[in-house]
Amino acid sequence: MIPLYCRVFHQLKLTDYWMTPFIRISNSTFKDAALKKIITPFTAGGLPVIVQIMGRDTELVLATVEQLKALDIAGINLNFACPSRKVMRKGNGGKALLEPENMAALLDKIRQRLPNHSLSVKLRSGYSSADEMEQIIPACLSADVDFIVMHYRTVTELYLPVSNGIKRLRRAVELSGTVPVIGSGDIFTVADAEQMGQAAGVAGVITARGLLRDPWLIRRIQGEKIKTTDKELVFKLFSERGQSESEFACSRGYLLELARNLWGINSHQFCQLSGRKIKESK
Ligand SMILES: Cc1cc2nc3c(=O)[nH]c(=O)nc-3n(C[C@H](O)[C@H](O)[C@H](O)COP(=O)(O)O)c2cc1C
Repeated sequence: MIPLYCRVFHQLKLTDYWMTPFIRISNSTFKDAALKKIITPFTAGGLPVIVQIMGRDTELVLATVEQLKALDIAGINLNFACPSRKVMRKGNGGKALLEPENMAALLDKIRQRLPNHSLSVKLRSGYSSADEMEQIIPACLSADVDFIVMHYRTVTELYLPVSNGIKRLRRAVELSGTVPVIGSGDIFTVADAEQMGQAAGVAGVITARGLLRDPWLIRRIQGEKIKTTDKELVFKLFSERGQSESEFACSRGYLLELARNLWGINSHQFCQLSGRKIKESK
């Protein structure tokens, strides 16, 4: 599915650069060829690519950084944000926020190996409290990161509603000084992005679920006047390519997920595909 996403995004020119999903480094490093296979769909479009990695074992992480340097990448982002229980069981992802000094030590070692690439972090505002930012952000700055991506929820808040997300981002911006903070959290529209930019003073925004719903969202936020959101075109490209290119096979399950993201679970498009009955609104 990811290679297909990249191809469609490249074809429709929906982004100017990529940050990959995280590559988890657990008990061993990847073979060079395996790593290249993961990265190639992103680099194939000729756009700058930041590779996101996640791992606790310093030696394995550093070895992976060396491998990645040999590929045509713009930088590395460390994920200290993922709230998945599976990921956190071994202290990875968001769990790492509980040990800012270890984060700093790991980042510092990576920085030494990566003087000419961008180095950044993906954070949540804390593990269980946004007050933890007071230690977490200085730890990242001590390793001279180039920018910080901050999702405003804490790890334990998962995707629950929070009332003071913007205030947290504002504090993150204060703590980061001259290092740019890219804000994340519930950016579904241009207005959401503008509000975050103005109220929190972030240098940029990042959108995840919003982009799945509206593939033109980045372009809209950048100020392009996109007249239509031709979601049918996106869906058509996915299903045609999925059928014609066996290596990028797009299963029915993925197409259903795509339709659910694009149009919503109660849309006629999703219901037609899945056989689900449209729920009458009361
Ligand atoms: C399907 C999905 C996959 C995600 N994968 C990653 C990931 O690999 N790395 C990462 O830093 N964040 C990942 N995220 C988290 C998002 O980057 C983002 O922080 C979070 O979804 C909140 O932003 P949103 O409200 O714009 O969705 C993922 C989110 C979703 C919904």
